[in-house]
Amino acid sequence: MKKLQAPRGTLDVLPPDARRRLRIVEIAGDVLGRAGYEPIETPVFEDTELFVRGVGESTDIVQKEMFTFEDKAGRSLTLRPEATAGVCRAYIEHGMHKLPQPVKVWTAGPFFRHEAPQAGRYRQFTQIDAEALGSDDPTLDAELILLLAEIFERAGTGPSRLRLSSLGTPATRADYIDELRTYLRTREAELSGEVRERLEQNPLRAFDADHAGTQAVMAEAPRLTDRLSSEDAEHFAEVRALLDAAGMPYELDPTLVRGLDYYTRTVFEFESERLGAQAALGGGGRYDGLIEELGGPPTPGVGWAAGVERMLLAAGDESPARAPTVFISYAAPDTGRDRFLLARELRGAGYRVEMEQAGRSLKGQLKQADRVGAFATVIFGDSIEVKDMETGDQREAADLEEALGMVRDVTPS
Ligand code: HAM
Repeated sequence: MKKLQAPRGTLDVLPPDARRRLRIVEIAGDVLGRAGYEPIETPVFEDTELFVRGVGESTDIVQKEMFTFEDKAGRSLTLRPEATAGVCRAYIEHGMHKLPQPVKVWTAGPFFRHEAPQAGRYRQFTQIDAEALGSDDPTLDAELILLLAEIFERAGTGPSRLRLSSLGTPATRADYIDELRTYLRTREAELSGEVRERLEQNPLRAFDADHAGTQAVMAEAPRLTDRLSSEDAEHFAEVRALLDAAGMPYELDPTLVRGLDYYTRTVFEFESERLGAQAALGGGGRYDGLIEELGGPPTPGVGWAAGVERMLLAAGDESPARAPTVFISYAAPDTGRDRFLLARELRGAGYRVEMEQAGRSLKGQLKQADRVGAFATVIFGDSIEVKDMETGDQREAADLEEALGMVRDVTPS
């Protein structure tokens, strides 16, 4: 029979990788939880229109990368390519603007983009996403950036550089885009074909181009950060002042273009030297017009998402520490009930406990105890014995109670 394989661009996450991933999500939940972010979950598929309106019709995500399908009633649905649009839809749908503001939420789960698979780029990937809705206070922008940096730090992703910019309001941006388009037209012959094709729809994307000629033109292009209204410039200055005060290094990068249309004001991205071409560990920004665009009341918002697969690539192979492990084995066949009960008791006391469940010889069992990293093995036979796996010392216990005490005695601190 032909063997089946996982679809192109998807990953099976096997142990111990799955444990490392879970740990990263736990770290995020802990860091975000202490800043008042509550977990939220939205569906993995949504009406296609949500992303067309939310992420933006002219973006690569909407134009090329969505997994879109029809349900049996002929409605167009799409596997979510990102979380922000869905979270904003939920905020509107559940009248969350009536709650005390800002509403701070975070989520983690699978997202889908039909991109060419390569290291760090998949068609199904995992994001941790945080959003703060209902306030345009610059402390939220700075706080979110610092929280993401703390998550990276605790996840061990190593050094990364933070690129920061501001896109202003949609009106400033529209004027600027006209100005940029006019400028690009004067130098059209030097641009790549792709940029020329996009000139009408989205000239900003020219900042992203790999093409040398286009890059030379962009180096002299007008900058949006020089065109910000005084309010937006002040907001941006405050975000920077807060980051400075917190000692968070960043690089101002007026060419930072995010691949989603909803951004206003602050945008940022963390890049890791440890990753190859797909260097972005995570990024985000403010989206003060998105909720209104989706039919809700005017509501500012700011947030970010980080790619868990990329965080793991950057963090390397080191597995997170586990609770100290005890292995329970037997020298002669028995009913196993005492072993079973001791395992329960030790687990209740906070140990990670594995027991022999594959019928190995005693020698095989002790090898298995080493493999699972046990510091102690409890051996059931004519008597109960506790073996310190570090020193090899073995002592006899009168009963389960005493065995438990002996395990405690040899537990590494
Ligand atoms: P994004 O920059 O498109 O932003 O994605 C955030 C992160 O998801 C990226 O930095 C990367 O680590 C990871 N990622 C994206 N695509 C892939 C892929 N194909 N394979 C593996 N990892 C990937 C957003 O999605 C925005 N919703 C962030 C946001 C939240 N902005 C405001 N709130």
